[in-house]
Amino acid sequence: MKYCNSKHICVTPRGAGTGLSGGALPVYGGVVLGLQRMNSIVKVDTENFQAIVEPGVINEVLQQTVKEYGLFYPPDPASKGTCFIGGNIAHCSGGPRALKYGTTRDYVLNLEVVLPSGDIIWTGANTLKYASGYNLTHLIIGSEGTLGIVTKIVLKLIPFPTQNSLLLASFASPIDACRAVSSIFMGGCSPSVCEFIEPLAFRLAADYLQVAFETPETVQAYLLIEIDGNNGELIAKECENMYTILTEGNCLEVLLATTTSEKEHLWKLRRSMGEASKKSTVYKEEDTVVPRAQLPELFAGTKTIAARYGLRTVCYGHAGDGNLHINILKDEHSDAYWNHEVKEAIKEIFRLCISLGGTISGEHGIGLVQKEYLPLAVSEIQIDLMRNIKRCFDPNLILNPGKIF
Ligand code: LAC
Ligand code: ZN
Repeated sequence: MKYCNSKHICVTPRGAGTGLSGGALPVYGGVVLGLQRMNSIVKVDTENFQAIVEPGVINEVLQQTVKEYGLFYPPDPASKGTCFIGGNIAHCSGGPRALKYGTTRDYVLNLEVVLPSGDIIWTGANTLKYASGYNLTHLIIGSEGTLGIVTKIVLKLIPFPTQNSLLLASFASPIDACRAVSSIFMGGCSPSVCEFIEPLAFRLAADYLQVAFETPETVQAYLLIEIDGNNGELIAKECENMYTILTEGNCLEVLLATTTSEKEHLWKLRRSMGEASKKSTVYKEEDTVVPRAQLPELFAGTKTIAARYGLRTVCYGHAGDGNLHINILKDEHSDAYWNHEVKEAIKEIFRLCISLGGTISGEHGIGLVQKEYLPLAVSEIQIDLMRNIKRCFDPNLILNPGKIF
């Protein structure tokens, strides 16, 4: 970094390359700094419930390693089998369980960071509390590799919840499904997962995985709901309460996944939806997020806007968080239409999302592909503050240039 800084050579840090906003692409050339060989789990501290890891550790490898000690690292992006913890920090990744357990941000205690100057700092302390000046740890999380290169991470762990139930509720109306999400919480339930899924997302995933999954014509939306904990009786009671709420919310049917293989089947389908959409056609993936109760308006408005532009969309996502992934499918549209007109449709969807109190990315970041839309969500003054922070860390602007703003 010292050498590159002195020669003004751009450096783009890169993890597993699973990001969805182009954050790891070296758009101005220079050095791509691959972190994949910094992949050791340095320590699992079972007394303090902490782990010290390098950035190239695969999310699921960390989850499995700490599980052997009865511990839990909850953030679980769909790409958990391949994505790196370093990339999760760069974008503050979430995933289905963020609903109950929070996102990457909620599990990072301290970071070792190499600055563009080559200086090495620790951003905080290995403590559960931190009130010693500006929180640089949280500034680095979500900074998409533009401020420094994370080389060591101290993570908070929690006890592993030993039991869970997984329900799949089907609805004739997607709006009823969206409405049911708020009703679940207002009815006193606190699921660990509450995912909204359009039938097309299931069908694309089933085709992609070459497995069977029937979606009856009457069904227009699903909610995939997990309830977890350590007390089977309490979980069963919560499932009953959930069943009542869903039925009162016009659901058609609630299926309980009874075996581990049924659960794994549903999870595999759910986690493949992004990849399956990508395989089916060229697509654009938006990562809208609104306050949970505004989800019905976001979904209905998105479909109205897409219809006006003649675009097919497939929506799924972390409904409990109000985080809806909107995949816009290119299908037979011309490249000219796709590259110009579709941007107007995306802007309309984002304006709607912001008018509902939301923002343009919940967990995928801004990177390269969303940066032209950031001014819709963030004021000029905020962007100026971000630019000044960037200059403070990286006066020669060598680190991951061309991203975020
Ligand atoms: C998912 C990724 C795309 O939730 O965020 O599947
Ligand atoms: Zn997601």
